[in-house]
Amino acid sequence: MVRRPGPDHPGTGLVTSSPGVRGVVGPILDAPAPGELRYRRDALVVVDGSGSIEDVLEPADPRYDPIHDELRASGDIEVLPPGTYLLPGLIDLHNHAPQWPQLGKALDVPLEVWLNEYTFPLEARYSSTSFAQNVYRSLVATLLANGTTTAVYFGTIHVPATQLLVDECLVQGQRAVVGKVAMDHPEGCPDYYRDDSVEAALSATARFIEYVRDHPDNRPGLVQAAVTPRFVPSCTDELLAGLGELARAEATLVQTHCSESDWAHGYGLDRYDRTDTETYAEFGLLRRGTVLAHSNFITETDMGLIRDAGSAVAHCPLSNVYFANAVFPVRRALASGIHVGLGTDVSGGPSPSVFNAAANAVAVSRVLEDGVDAAVSAADRGVAGSRISFAEAFWLATTGGGEALGLPIGLLEPGYQFDAIAVATDRVGANLSVWPELDSTPDVLQKIINNCASADITSVWVAGRKVKPAG
Ligand code: GUN
Ligand code: FE
Repeated sequence: MVRRPGPDHPGTGLVTSSPGVRGVVGPILDAPAPGELRYRRDALVVVDGSGSIEDVLEPADPRYDPIHDELRASGDIEVLPPGTYLLPGLIDLHNHAPQWPQLGKALDVPLEVWLNEYTFPLEARYSSTSFAQNVYRSLVATLLANGTTTAVYFGTIHVPATQLLVDECLVQGQRAVVGKVAMDHPEGCPDYYRDDSVEAALSATARFIEYVRDHPDNRPGLVQAAVTPRFVPSCTDELLAGLGELARAEATLVQTHCSESDWAHGYGLDRYDRTDTETYAEFGLLRRGTVLAHSNFITETDMGLIRDAGSAVAHCPLSNVYFANAVFPVRRALASGIHVGLGTDVSGGPSPSVFNAAANAVAVSRVLEDGVDAAVSAADRGVAGSRISFAEAFWLATTGGGEALGLPIGLLEPGYQFDAIAVATDRVGANLSVWPELDSTPDVLQKIINNCASADITSVWVAGRKVKPAG
C-alpha cells in the first residue's frame, strides 16, 4: 500500500500527481561522451506530459522565441535565476538503503569484519517494517535533496521492508532499481540473517519482482526490480543458478558485488578457481543491465566478458578506499569499452552524494597514477595513464550511469527523460562559489563537482515532476 503525503507522511510534503514542468530555461551543462563537456547558454528545455524531453532549443533556433512566448503565456515556464545551472540528475549505481543509519561510521575494520559486526546485525532489523519505513523515508528524501534522481538500491532479505522502499521511491518520485537481497550460504551468512532455503530465496525474489511490476502507482516503470545475489561468499551454487534463471525468465536487471577486496576476490578464486565475473557468467547472471559493484580486481578477460555481455561496473571510489585494498582502474575500464558509472555504496562509502563520488573518482585515479609510497622512485610508484578528468567523472555520474542501466537518462536531449537538477553557484555562505569573470565553463563544472552541497541544489525534477522543493 503506497502511503500518500499527509499527516502520516509529513517528511517531504511531496505529491504524486504533480502535472510536471513544461519548460525550463537556463544554462545547461551535460556530457554527451566521456571527457566531452557540453555547454548551452540560455537553453529552453521543452518537456512533454509524460516527462520526456521534447526539445532543447538554443536562442538562435527560430522556434525558440515562439515556444518561449507560448509557454510564458500559459505560465508553464521556469526561468532559472542568473548563476544557476541546469544539469542532468545524478545516477547512483550502487547504494545499500538499509545501511543508511550507519552512514559515516564503522569504517575502521576490514570488509569481512564490517559485514559481520555491523552490517548484518543492522540489516537484520528490517524484519521490522516500521523501522524500515522510517529509514527509507529519510534516505530517499536525502538522496533527492542531493540530486540523485536515479538510485540502484540493495534492500535486505525481507520482502515487506523492500516493498516499502519501492513505495517510498514512488511516493517521493525517485527513479530507482531495487532488489530484495538473496543470500543463503550457511558459511557466508549468519544464521540470524539469511534466506531459509534456495526455494525460499527464489520465490521471495519472484514475489518481489511481481510486486514492483504490478504496483498500481508504477505505471511508467519509474521503479524496476533487480535480481540481487549479495556476493559470491553469501550464495550457494544452487541459489546463483536459480537467480540466473529467474533473471532470464523475467528479463530483469541484476546487481551484485564483484571482486571487491583481496578477501572477497580471493574467496571466489578459492571456491571456484575462477574470478567472480567468470562465476556470474557461468550462472547466467552476467547480462545486459547487470551492475557489478566495485570490481577492483577484474582481469582483462573479465573486462571482455563484461563488455560482451553488456554489463556494467559501479565504481565506488570512496568505499574502495576503506574496504577494497585497491583502486579500480577506471581509465582502463573505459578504454576496454565496458559500461561504467558511479556508486556511493552507502554505507561502505561515507557520503550519499554522487558529486562527492565523482570528486573521489578523480582523486583516486590520480593516486593510482602517481602511486603513494614516496620511498619508491617516481617512475615505479604508480600506474601511468590512470587519471580521469572532471569531465569524465561528470560523464560517469550522469550519461555513463544511464547507459549502464539502458535507460534514457543522464543527458538533456530530446527523447531522454527530464531528470534534472538546478545548481546555484552564488549562494551566500556556500562553499560553492563561481566568479563569472574568472571561471571558464570547465572551471564551473570542476567547482560544482568538488563543492556542491545539497543546499546548492535548488530544484530537482524526475520524469518532469518537481521533487525538490515540493511541487
Ligand atoms: N560485499 C557483500 N556485501 C557488501 C556490502 O554490503 N557492502 C560492500 N561494500 N561490500 C559487500
Ligand atoms: Fe556494496
